[in-house]
Amino acid sequence: MNKVAVLDFGSQYTQLIARKLRELGVFSEIFPFNIPLSKLKKESPSALILSGGPQSVYEKGAYLPSKEIFKLGVPVLGICYGIQLMAHLLGGKVLPSQKREYGSASLRVINRKGLLSGVKDRGQVWMSHGDRLERIPSGFIISGKTANTKAAVIESRQDRLYGVQFHPEVIHTKEGKKILANYLFRLAGLKGEWNMGSFVEEKVREIRRLVGDKKIICGLSGGIDSLVTSLLVHRAVKDNLVCILVDNGLLRKNQYQELMKKFRRQLDLNVIGIDASDLFLKKLKGVISPERKRKIIGELFIRIFEEQAEKIGGVDFLAQGTIYPDVIESSPVKGPSLTIKSHHNVGGLPKRLKFKLIEPLKELFKDEVRVLAAKLGVDEDFITQHPFPGPGLAVRIVGEVTNERLKIVRGADEILLQEVKKEGLHKKLWQVFAVLLPVKSVGVMGDRRTYQAVVVIRLVQSEDGMTATWYQVSPEVLARISNRIVNEVNGVNRVVYDITTKPPGTIEWE
Ligand code: XMP
Repeated sequence: MNKVAVLDFGSQYTQLIARKLRELGVFSEIFPFNIPLSKLKKESPSALILSGGPQSVYEKGAYLPSKEIFKLGVPVLGICYGIQLMAHLLGGKVLPSQKREYGSASLRVINRKGLLSGVKDRGQVWMSHGDRLERIPSGFIISGKTANTKAAVIESRQDRLYGVQFHPEVIHTKEGKKILANYLFRLAGLKGEWNMGSFVEEKVREIRRLVGDKKIICGLSGGIDSLVTSLLVHRAVKDNLVCILVDNGLLRKNQYQELMKKFRRQLDLNVIGIDASDLFLKKLKGVISPERKRKIIGELFIRIFEEQAEKIGGVDFLAQGTIYPDVIESSPVKGPSLTIKSHHNVGGLPKRLKFKLIEPLKELFKDEVRVLAAKLGVDEDFITQHPFPGPGLAVRIVGEVTNERLKIVRGADEILLQEVKKEGLHKKLWQVFAVLLPVKSVGVMGDRRTYQAVVVIRLVQSEDGMTATWYQVSPEVLARISNRIVNEVNGVNRVVYDITTKPPGTIEWE
């Protein structure tokens, strides 16, 4: 099967390149830019892609691979920093640009025979660079330009080397997918034979090889990511997988009982249920800081897993349902992606871990996980359920988590979900939830003054959780929700609607 090697020069979009290739039915693997040439050759890729990156090729310490990568006998496509690198290493010239180009630009098509075959003139492309190609290397032609970039697309058909200054992998480049398809199929001669079925086969093989006949545990959170992880691992190692569902006291109403039933009966997984709600509440007592909450919860989960592993014996591995957005948003190291929140399954993990981690979904986006879930036999209801964060309701209670406050947020959450489902809105939305504020407000009920809690309701739409918009729900529905919450949930006398997009807000409040 064809494989594309994507060399990563630190762009925030590198995983998006891999994702687009998957959509086009081509398998790819991401390697660090400095992978030794001999190792790269052993991988025998059918084509290479050089990602973007935050540096300038002429800077001291810039990420420069060996020039030999252009002589492997396979086609190469350089994107953004990648095109500059290609030019720089092959005798062209790259200089700082007078006019930096960030955002959308209009692409003028000069030559439509190669990369830009079938691409419309003046289509929108997405730029993000501060350098320009002053001189292209010999043997190349310029096939496309924009107002600020003379050489936006370059090609050397005889050497099968191609470059684009813009990012074809982002949705803002309208015909980006066509350009990538031209590269893969017309120019590199690959076939789109890969699909999620192949992904399952590859991962199952890989997990089997790694785990061997050791035991592995997987924490189920009730979300789709950990379930799909468990199902993949189960396929690979059968009964050597033990799943653990912890009732941390931070779940939605009846969630623990329903999940237990589902995992055991419908999905045939070996699941141990642990009621640790008192322990979690005790450790969270008096804690207000969102990051502290996340770390405490992440640590407690791991301690419980360790305890269980001890009891089971011979457990060397822990499987986690980390997906790609968790990785970037929790990354404490990579340049553009500073830590926003410590997702408990990534940044919230304790430093000392007794297990080797296995994270088979680490490169996937949520919608891809949903496709995978269907392949693995998960029912539609579960697949379309909204994401639920690992730290659960603790990050939806601003301030201290107490039993009393959990009861309020659970009550409001249940009503909200019922109304949203009744209206048929559930499928349109990424997430719907209630948040309890550490604020009281004055109200009047039955001629009496009240001084009670404020609940926020949040309905958002999103593609992948990385950005989101608040949903313009009708006033009638809002009125019904607010009325029911105030009447049915003790201790609440005011309901407000959150009208903040992400960015600048995040989806969850903590
Ligand atoms: P934010 O609040 O960062 O959330 O905009 C983006 C998406 O991620 C979910 N989320 C989490 N999921 N563990 C998870 O498994 C976590 O710690 C976590 N924190 C946030 C959130 O619900 C939203 O869908």
